[in-house]
Amino acid sequence: MRTLFDQVFINSMSVPNRFVRSATYEGMGNPDGSCKDAVFELTAELARGETGLIISSHAYVEPRGRVRPPQLGVHRDEMVPGLTRMAEAAHINGARIVLQIAHAGCTAVEPDGEFVGPSAITLPDGHSCRELTNNEIRDLVQAFRRGAERAMEAGFDGVQIHSAHAYLLSQFLSPYFNRRNDEYGGSLVNRSRIHREVLNAVRDAVGDEIPVLIKMNSDDFIDGGFTRKEMVEVARILESEGIDAVELSGGTPLSPADRGFARPGIQPPEEEVYYVDAARLYKEAVSVPLILVGGIRTYSVAQNLIEEGIADLISLSRPLIREPFLVRRWREGDTSDATCIHCNLCFGPARSGEGIYCVPERQQRQKEGSR
Ligand SMILES: Cc1cc2nc3c(=O)[nH]c(=O)nc-3n(C[C@H](O)[C@H](O)[C@H](O)COP(=O)(O)O)c2cc1C
Repeated sequence: MRTLFDQVFINSMSVPNRFVRSATYEGMGNPDGSCKDAVFELTAELARGETGLIISSHAYVEPRGRVRPPQLGVHRDEMVPGLTRMAEAAHINGARIVLQIAHAGCTAVEPDGEFVGPSAITLPDGHSCRELTNNEIRDLVQAFRRGAERAMEAGFDGVQIHSAHAYLLSQFLSPYFNRRNDEYGGSLVNRSRIHREVLNAVRDAVGDEIPVLIKMNSDDFIDGGFTRKEMVEVARILESEGIDAVELSGGTPLSPADRGFARPGIQPPEEEVYYVDAARLYKEAVSVPLILVGGIRTYSVAQNLIEEGIADLISLSRPLIREPFLVRRWREGDTSDATCIHCNLCFGPARSGEGIYCVPERQQRQKEGSR
């Protein structure tokens, strides 16, 4: 029987159990994109908590791809020493670590430069972006390659290409954002061209044995957006191009809140997994390992997903902000639900640059301390 604590392989990377910390922007970057010490402490804590595989927060591959300043970057060689310490913090404490390489495209908030995207559009919040030229797309593919090379120099075990949540690569897949009529727009083969180019460039940089993962939307949940059916087709295309694992997420900043990637509030266990139907569709068509994220907070739910083969790894973000030691707690036999209630207040200190923490948990501790 498959269990949550099986050792698993993604390409040549052995992961000590099936738990993944999903990429989580922590607001612990310096203004130039390098890591503050707090990143190393956070990483070490997650590893000591027995999180098998840690996926870093999204690191921008070029300045225009930054969402906002306290974000980590992998856009310059000067980022490598900090990233090296981050990788070490995971390894010393027994975890694997993968760098999420990213570009925010037109949904950036405060890019270092202009807003660019697959097409010139104005978003509902009023900001506009410029369409990338084909030459710029070629440069961007190289920026992803250089990001992957730097991740290798820093000792990461692999990379994850960020193509979810309406950031740049997700925008290319989505007819809502991608209105091009050249070879990067129109058919799904064209909309996923940049993915094949990025994957091939990254593979070239890291070699055949290093895992290259992708996080992608299962559905944009917006009118005219990327759909579940298309997700399966793109996953099949990427399978044939040699992707090593797919993490399924969903939603964009334009989706209704209850269809966003981090939905507020908790559901009963039978409804807690956001993308379970998409995962089943994926499994019928694709044999690349599936990392499933979104809403999972109950031990028995996670175990069922693994036992029934609906997912191969279980990915958690908010539960591990509140309880970095959750995996260890579950392994030691206290399998009560994650205590995170998806209030989403953790976004506040991350976005402000204070550095992420669980707000209700800290308030509780402060209250107890002042008694
Ligand atoms: C504070 C915060 C920051 C996040 N940052 C990222 C990120 O950098 N990259 C990414 O792919 N997803 C990011 N996400 C989304 C999570 O990885 C995950 O997909 C989502 O929160 C659902 O999982 P959960 O229900 O376990 O929290 C973030 C989520 C939160 C709450």
